[in-house]
Amino acid sequence: MKETLEKLQSHAVEMINNAPDGEHLEELRLRFLGKKGELTAVLKGLGKLPDDLRPVMGKLANHVKEAIGEALKTRLDRLAEEKLAMDLNEESIDITLPGHKVDAGSIHPISRVMAEIQEIFIGMGFAVVEGPEVETEYYNFEALNIPADHPSREMWDSFYFGEGLLLRSHTSPVQVRVMEKQEPPVKVIVPGKCSRRDAVDPTHHWMFHQVEGLLVDRGVTFADLKGVLLDFARRMFGPRRRVRFNPSYFPFTEPSAEVYIDCFKCQGEGCRICKQSGWIEILGAGMVNPKVLEIVGYDPEEYTGFAFGMGPDRIAMLKYGINDIRLFFDNDIRFLEQFA
Ligand code: FA5
Repeated sequence: MKETLEKLQSHAVEMINNAPDGEHLEELRLRFLGKKGELTAVLKGLGKLPDDLRPVMGKLANHVKEAIGEALKTRLDRLAEEKLAMDLNEESIDITLPGHKVDAGSIHPISRVMAEIQEIFIGMGFAVVEGPEVETEYYNFEALNIPADHPSREMWDSFYFGEGLLLRSHTSPVQVRVMEKQEPPVKVIVPGKCSRRDAVDPTHHWMFHQVEGLLVDRGVTFADLKGVLLDFARRMFGPRRRVRFNPSYFPFTEPSAEVYIDCFKCQGEGCRICKQSGWIEILGAGMVNPKVLEIVGYDPEEYTGFAFGMGPDRIAMLKYGINDIRLFFDNDIRFLEQFA
C-alpha cells in the first residue's frame, strides 16, 4: 500500500503540474481527491490492514492527500499568474502609436458673430433679452407704428398662422415688450431669428438673424446713438473704422438712418466687398418714435431713446468673405468645418 500511495502521489503531482488550465485541474482534483477518486479508493482499503500498520498508512495517506492538495493550489496560483501576465501583455498600451483623430465640432459662424456682437454691447452695459419668434401682428406692426394699411408693411412681409399670429419679421417687437414691462432707463439688446417672405438670393434668406438695440432714458440724443454705434463699429471691425449715417425711414424711429462703415477690406478705396463705393451698410437705426413711447405708456416729453437693428448673417458674410448667405443654412459639413 505504501508503494501504491507513493506512486499515486508522484503521478498526481506530475499531472497537476502539467495541467494547462483550471478546468483540467478541477478534473484532476475529482480524479484523485473526489469521493470516487483514486486516493479515496486506496483509503477504503485501510480497514483491511493489520492493526499495527493502519495508523502508519493512515498518516501516509493523509500526507499524500495534503501533498496533492498543495500541488493543486500551487498550480492554480501559477496558472492565475500566467493568465494575468498574458492579459497585461495583451492590454499594454503602446504610447508611441499615433492617436485616433477626434472629430471636434465647431461653433457656427453666425453663432460666433452673434456672440461677438453681444459681448461688445454687454461691455457697454446693455442687458441681453429675448422675445418670441411667433409674434402677434400687434407687436410686429401696430405697436411699432405700422398700421394695417401702411405701405411699409410690405418691407416686413412674413409667414402667417392666422388669428393675428406670424413669424416675427424683425426683432423690433421685443422693444415694445421690454418697454411695456419696465420703466426707463432701458438698455437692452435682443438677438434672435426672424423670417420674411423675401425671395431667397445671395444676400436674402427667408430665415435670418437680427440683433436689436434699445436705449431709453432722460436726455438721450442722436449723438448718443452715434457714439454707441461708432464704438461698436470700431470694436467689431477695427479701431480705425469710420461710420456714416444716411437719412432713411422706419415707422418706429424718427429721425431714421441707415448706418454704414467704411470698407474694412479696402479701407474705403473701393473693392468687390463694398461694391466699389468704399462703404458698407451694417444696420438701420434712429430715435425711438414718440408715438411708440406713447403706445407703451412712456411720457415722450420726459424720455427719449434710440434703437437700432442689424443683420449678423450679413456681417458674418462680410467678416468671413462669404458670397452667399445660403451657405450658412445648408449645413454642408465641408463649409462649416472651415470655421473649426
Ligand atoms: C429692420 O428690420 C428694422 N427693424 C431695424 C431697425 C431697428 C431700424 C430699430 C431702426 C430701429 P431692415 O428691414 O433694414 O430693418 O433689416 C435690418 C437688417 O436685417 C438688414 O440690414 C439685413 O442685414 C437684415 N435682413 C433683413 N432682411 C433679410 C433677409 N431676407 N435675409 C438676411 N438678412 C436680412
